[in-house]
Amino acid sequence: YTVDSLAQTADKPNYDESKVPEYTLPELLKTNDGVKVNNKQVWEAIRRPELIREFEDNIYGQMPQGFDRITYSFINDNKSAMEGKARLKEVLIKVFNKDQKLEINLILFIPNRAKRPSPAFLLINNRGKENTDPTRINKSDFWPAELLIDSGYAIAAFNVDELAPDQKDTYMNGVLRLYPEQLAANNGMRAIGAWAWGASRVMDYLLTDPDIDGKQIAVVGHSRGGKASLWAAAEDQRFALCITNCSGNTGAALARRQFGERIKTINTKFPYWFSPNYKKFNDQEALLPVDQHMLISMIAPRPVYATNASDDLWADPKGTYLSLQNAEPAYVLYGIKPNLPANSPAINEPIVNASLAYHIREGKHDLTLFDWINFIKFANYNFKKRAF
Ligand code: GCU
Repeated sequence: YTVDSLAQTADKPNYDESKVPEYTLPELLKTNDGVKVNNKQVWEAIRRPELIREFEDNIYGQMPQGFDRITYSFINDNKSAMEGKARLKEVLIKVFNKDQKLEINLILFIPNRAKRPSPAFLLINNRGKENTDPTRINKSDFWPAELLIDSGYAIAAFNVDELAPDQKDTYMNGVLRLYPEQLAANNGMRAIGAWAWGASRVMDYLLTDPDIDGKQIAVVGHSRGGKASLWAAAEDQRFALCITNCSGNTGAALARRQFGERIKTINTKFPYWFSPNYKKFNDQEALLPVDQHMLISMIAPRPVYATNASDDLWADPKGTYLSLQNAEPAYVLYGIKPNLPANSPAINEPIVNASLAYHIREGKHDLTLFDWINFIKFANYNFKKRAF
């Protein structure tokens, strides 16, 4: 072997279950001082805030809380969009801080024939504006707005590039202009944090919209967007439900399994997604004070749905299911027993009537109609039950 070929072998993703290292997950229900967490009061007062801090300091960076001003203006308000089925609002959200301004273009359809105020799905769109066409000339299964409207849900989306362009040389030309101190800090926010921050600004708007039920807003993301949807729901408890589709490494999958994508790979290819501190864990997963099951736990007792696709081993389906299972104890603190089966369900057999839901769909890494149909069932179940 030459040195080069050895280095390449070392960085090859592992897809062999027998090569997954032995690992111990950090304990969910024990505080940093070693106190056992056996009720939700201790969880909420001590353990959950500790975990938020660990994820901020080591992975996603800080979530800036304040800004000088936020305004909303309507670029378009069409009461008879989608052939009369929906009201379309195109809302320009402007956030001002330190003489800087950020603009977010929100697209929102609200069902005309269903109950108002409507429950809503918000997609953190990482796949370009053509997937969320307000004119509906172009339709896409990535954001099947008609399906949601026909099911009685409002459907919203914003484009991640407005918050932080998804490129290593330009990502700072968004939210980070408003928070230069973040950019300077090793535990500062980067692109994924900025996208999650954007979801919260959209939430700020949605809470002012009388057509929307502010207590029933789901945040959805695919892949890198699914990493952001988890982080948004963990940081912002106003999101009632979270969906993370094929989010894999630094999303729903356990890091310590080192299966498929790893921390070093993601930090090398996407150095601008997470805080600089995260680089410390390149090839050092075992040193992380947290693992991704804790990210899901921080969303408890709100329902979480994670998915995978059968051809997408890069996102570690088994590690995703294990992550959900290991988040269960946080739900139990709230008297909810998610009861996920011991083994991951078969391909195309979703578990939807649950607080922790899961499916592995046949096919490739994508967000499809199959996924959305099941997200709707999951929301129907959880919003009707209102168990939170
Ligand atoms: C890459 C990246 C993943 C990410 C995916 C996506 O494959 O390595 O972490 O989830 O892109 O966003 O589609």
